Amino acid sequence: MNRPSIIELPQIADPRGNLTFIESENHFPFNIKRAFWTYNVPSGKRRGGHSYKQQNELIVALSGSVDVVTVDEADVVTSFRLDRPNFGLFIPPRVWRRMEFFSGNAFCLHLSDSEYNSSDYVRSERR
Ligand code: TYD
Repeated sequence: MNRPSIIELPQIADPRGNLTFIESENHFPFNIKRAFWTYNVPSGKRRGGHSYKQQNELIVALSGSVDVVTVDEADVVTSFRLDRPNFGLFIPPRVWRRMEFFSGNAFCLHLSDSEYNSSDYVRSERR
């Protein structure tokens, strides 16, 4: 998979409330080495604006909503709206991404197969 894609995760519906889970390799094509989350993003602010040289990432809006614009290696621009906790956006290496239009309650989980490494970033606000 060298294109960004939406991955549907299991959702166990229950009168007590829903449950969703995620398993490396079964649901997305990498092993989790790091998790981080973005939240309390002020209205109108954007995050990202970069690609990674080697890192794979999966982003899930656990609450609220956010738009993720991606540009792949063939310069295909795609906009994904993340607004359900059982859908994630898989972003492979060398795909530029920007997160924007965060809702006030947006809480986004990011899963990565690498530890934080600033030299893996390729930053540019516009491609
Ligand atoms: P960054 O990934 O640059 O955020 P964005 O692409 O949305 O601008 O991260 C912002 C800061 O947080 C940067 O100084 C590095 C630091 N950071 C870590 O120390 N560890 C991490 O896992 C992440 C994701 C960021």
